[in-house]
Amino acid sequence: MKNKEIVELGQKYLMNTYGRFPIALVKGEGSRVWDADGKEYIDFVSGLAVTSLGHANPYIAEVLNQQAKEILHSSNLYWIKPQVKLAQKLVENSCFHKVFFANGGAEANEAAIKLARKYSNLNYGPGRYEIITMKKSFHGRTMATLTATGQEKVQIGYEPLLEGFKYVPFNDFPALEEAITEKTCAIMVEPVQGEGGVNPAKKGYLKKLEALCKDKDILLIVDEVQTGMGRTGKLFAYEHYGIEPDIMSLAKALGNGTAISATLATDKVAQSFKPGDHASTFGGNFLACAVGNMVMDLLLEGDLLAQVEEKGEYLKEKLNQLKEDYPIIVEARGMGFLVGVEIKGESVSVVRKALENGLLLSAAGPKVVRFLPALNTDKETLDEAVEIFKRTIKAL
Ligand SMILES: Cc1ncc(COP(=O)(O)O)c(C=O)c1O
Repeated sequence: MKNKEIVELGQKYLMNTYGRFPIALVKGEGSRVWDADGKEYIDFVSGLAVTSLGHANPYIAEVLNQQAKEILHSSNLYWIKPQVKLAQKLVENSCFHKVFFANGGAEANEAAIKLARKYSNLNYGPGRYEIITMKKSFHGRTMATLTATGQEKVQIGYEPLLEGFKYVPFNDFPALEEAITEKTCAIMVEPVQGEGGVNPAKKGYLKKLEALCKDKDILLIVDEVQTGMGRTGKLFAYEHYGIEPDIMSLAKALGNGTAISATLATDKVAQSFKPGDHASTFGGNFLACAVGNMVMDLLLEGDLLAQVEEKGEYLKEKLNQLKEDYPIIVEARGMGFLVGVEIKGESVSVVRKALENGLLLSAAGPKVVRFLPALNTDKETLDEAVEIFKRTIKAL
């Protein structure tokens, strides 16, 4: 089947929830993908920060194959060895002590929200349930996580929203201090806002926020669904800030394309969950966790993460250099391989044109074009992508 046939069939049978581009990707290798008509692209979307170790990664393919031959699913009525091993690896490489596994980012955030409320309820009674989140944040599409999301566009039409969420401007500490009341149980923040336009938290901001939380026993939740698993050049983005949050959500690159997410917490907080308090049928299944273990091993091997930091700076610098000749570019910003280029214009038009030119990019809000290369992308491919981007904006 060619692109056109797949698109027409999809339009007939799928709910119209996505503004999709008119191609269907059918094959990938490393940082490259091919569509159903055989056209090749450099893939700097990476399945929206998911396929961080590249497409058709042979180690991932092997572990998937092996696990499928042994056992795929048993339920959480029994212990699951790859789940236990993956939890151990996550804990040993973070400031957290316990893990709950689910299937996607929104679910990991749901667990984080439930855990924070449970902790507060057990320790302070039922009136302390409010969660403060940031304007321009993105936390998911379930009712609780779209309520947590500080963007009206994902909330309109789904009212009434959940009770107990408040929004403050990002990177504005006085506004945050003012929003806190005796009802506040948690603050939820992305270290770098992804969907909201690639906005990194200021260093001092997260430090002050952490101190405030510790002082008042308000839980600090970091949503690392997008920034986690090496995307910013450290295993978790909170490490850049020298802070130790109470709860963290992960998803996306944890499974390099298999559906898995995790909510991590410190012992103090995690012990609020007792058997029956939270669950997921598929959460932590053999297949996803077997892959998760391999992802962790590959991320921690050699100097991959240090290279992401270095190559991320290289990419950002090359993109910032374009400002001189192309005033449409306001700035390139971000951390590691989570880079956004703010433009004076419509980001989706640039994304559409880049796709025609053989480079896959994604929009992060109306004015930011996002670059999410696989973490093992080489410099030649970065150069090639910047050339295509240059050609793209020149033609606009
Ligand atoms: C920071 C953040 N949190 C949560 C989510 C939601 O994840 P999912 O689409 O897997 O539910 C996303 C998705 O883009 C995200 O970027």
